Order: sequence, then structure tokens, then C-alpha cells
Amino acid sequence: MIQALGFCPAPFFSANRDLLPMPPTRPPAWVEKAKRLAAETALSLVQSVHYLGVGTGSTTRYFIEGLGKIQEQFDGAVASSEQTASLLRQAGVPVLELNDTGDLDLYVDGADAFDPHFRLIKGHGGALTREKILATASRRFILIVDETKRFARLGDSVSVPVEVIPFARSTVARQIVRMGGTPTLRERYLTDNGNQVLDVLGLPLSDPVQMEHALQSIPGVVEVGIFSERIPDLVLMGTSSFTVERLKAV
Ligand code: A5P
Repeated sequence: MIQALGFCPAPFFSANRDLLPMPPTRPPAWVEKAKRLAAETALSLVQSVHYLGVGTGSTTRYFIEGLGKIQEQFDGAVASSEQTASLLRQAGVPVLELNDTGDLDLYVDGADAFDPHFRLIKGHGGALTREKILATASRRFILIVDETKRFARLGDSVSVPVEVIPFARSTVARQIVRMGGTPTLRERYLTDNGNQVLDVLGLPLSDPVQMEHALQSIPGVVEVGIFSERIPDLVLMGTSSFTVERLKAV
């Protein structure tokens, strides 16, 4: 089966349906309000900031809407994706290049999953590489999430995105299988960097730091959606009862 990977369209392992991701389900109605509340709370923390980085996704969209209204409080923003750059411009926020700003004062982003130690899975929106660069280049990282993103452990049900250069897709996929994962090629999708994404289920994630490094060390891997080194300094979690919890890492 591994030999066939180079010719096999996604999903790679259709013979074993139990290992395929579940079809997306509609989130409950409170989730959007919880996301908005977390984003609004983060806006109140944009203080003493020259340049900030902005993540990608539906939660950061609420943050960007609000940024346009407080743009006199900072000098500009670096976007983690073309989509975010476009939204920032629409909101009237100056969009800058990381190569021109130097390190950033603040980075604000969402996530697909976080654990009690604030280790994250990110990249379901495909922007994982630039997101990790911006998080690492920022003095403060605030995560804005709704309660559905909180997990006791990473890896139970949320796939790990891995950005790969197209030339290496099959060989990277075979390495991931040897590591215990089940990769699925994200179809008809290229990242802003012109690469492909493998969404990987089943990886052993009891030691996320080790797994992040192991995946990063495969030739052809550009970046991995496990954020176990640059974790957030603060997590703002919107809840189903419409409060925002300021969480502390265990
Ligand atoms: C983008 O690539 C991701 O890392 C997002 O941060 C993540 O998918 C969260 O998105 P939502 O806010 O839409 O859930």
C-alpha cells in the first residue's frame, strides 16, 4: 500500500474507513458568539503595541473587524496569510512585511486544539507556517478560542496538518506512516507558500515536543501544525455561557 502512495489520490487509506476523518459537523450556535467575545477581549489588550501579528481563521476575523476601530493604538500589522492581509486592508489596517518590522510586540491567533499545557494544533486553515513564524517572532502570544478547542490531550480527534513541498509529498507521507500516523492529502489546496498539506490522524502525541521535532526533521516538511515550543502566553476562551476565561497553563 505504501508503494502506491505516489499515485493514490486523497484519502490515502480509503481501505480503512475507520481511520478517515469524520465529515465536518456544524458547530453549535453559541460557538460564533464565544469566538467573538474572546476576540473582543483580546482587542482590549492591544496596548503599548507598535506592530502586531495577526493569525488566520474565523476567530481572528472578529479580531480583525475590531482592529480597524482601534488602529490609532498601533502602527501596523503583519498578516499570517493572504486572506488575513486582505481582511486587514478592508478594515483599514496598514499591512506590513515581517522583514521590515523586526520582532513584533504581540501576536493574536486562534487554534484548532489546545491542551492544559497550552500546546496547540493549528493549521486547519492552512496558514501554519507563517503562523508559527509570527508567533515565534512576537514578544507576547495571545490565543483566542472557543470552548470546543479545549482538549485533555492533543491527538485524540484533531488531525495534525503538515505542510510539505509537492516534490516530497509521497516520501513524507511514507515516513509519517512509519511514525504511526495516517496522512490524508488536502485536495485541491495549496498554501500561500505554494505547498501542499497532509492532514495526519493517529500520531502518538504523548510527547508533542518530540513529535513536533521528529516531523520537522523529515526532508520535504516545511512546517508542522504542532505548536509545543512557542506556546501562548495567555489563552482567552469564550464559553457556552458567554463568558471569557483567562486561562493559565498547567
Ligand atoms: C489557520 O491556519 C489555523 O491555524 C487557525 O488558527 C485555526 O484553524 C483556527 O481557526 P478558527 O478560528 O476558524 O477555528
